[in-house]
Amino acid sequence: MTLTAPDASARIDAEQEAELQARFDALIEADQRIEPRDWMPDAYRKTLIRQISQHAHSEIIGMQPEGNWISRAPSLKRKAILMAKVQDEAGHGLYLYSAAQTLGISRDEMTEQLITSRARYSSIFNYPTPTWADMGAIGWLVDGAAICNQVPLCRASYGPYGRAMVRICKEESFHQRQGFEILLELSQGTPEQHAMAQESVDRWYWPALMMFGPPDDESPNSAQSMAWKIKRFSNDELRQRFVGMLVPQAEVLGLTLPDPNLRWNEERQAWDMSEIDWTEFNEVLAGRGPANAQRIQHRRDAHEEGAWVREAAAAYAEKQAARERVAA
Ligand SMILES: [Fe+2]
Ligand SMILES: [Fe+2]
Repeated sequence: MTLTAPDASARIDAEQEAELQARFDALIEADQRIEPRDWMPDAYRKTLIRQISQHAHSEIIGMQPEGNWISRAPSLKRKAILMAKVQDEAGHGLYLYSAAQTLGISRDEMTEQLITSRARYSSIFNYPTPTWADMGAIGWLVDGAAICNQVPLCRASYGPYGRAMVRICKEESFHQRQGFEILLELSQGTPEQHAMAQESVDRWYWPALMMFGPPDDESPNSAQSMAWKIKRFSNDELRQRFVGMLVPQAEVLGLTLPDPNLRWNEERQAWDMSEIDWTEFNEVLAGRGPANAQRIQHRRDAHEEGAWVREAAAAYAEKQAARERVAA
């Protein structure tokens, strides 16, 4: 058993460990935050590293399907909005990489895991974006699902993660509104524009519902994450909440959610919906989605092409440090 503060390597005995564990449990129980300086069980640290780095990778890879449209946005205004949105996603990736670094993993290691396909990111970003309406559907549905997932994470027990999420969620709500607005304009436009908006919603609806993960009875990590107060609601609860948010908005948009079985069940106080096709989800998760290889290749190329920037920054930092040493 190692003392798991990132900078500590001293061994501790069983009695000390029990005491540290009890203190950790008490903090969680009292809804207090765990900070980088605190002792934490290895499994908690590993779970957080996995979750936060996956989340960071998703933000970074998530820039690609929309980045694809920056040069083709239909007006200067749309271009400026989309550029700001994609840039926000880069910022989210950076906050989250920083939060993960406080747990003792380096940025290089995380990047390496991503570009060698050893780390996962949200499979939603492996779908292509063939039409302009996809910018609307991504904002409305994908950023919308992200908000439902992420608002409860603002209260995650690990301090740096929760605080990063507060900033991220504010920007996500702008993302969702800009997507909604693109769809609204298309929906109220020509019949062709309306059809384009509907076709895009048809393609993104189910993948967006899959973003909440497998049903509760098949979600292996959920119970532990809820006990640690990293996760506050189950996958199915969040999916229900998301659908409840979409239904009235779809009405305003004049668009149809592509599920003929979707209706409010008064008795269950929940939405009835069709069965999700998890075989598709598992295919995409296994790396066989429409754009998996392209996304990773693009990220790898960007990493290689950016090597000179990293080298120059490191050389500059070294020079500054040397200058400071001389001055001291
Ligand atoms: Fe984001
Ligand atoms: Fe976003």
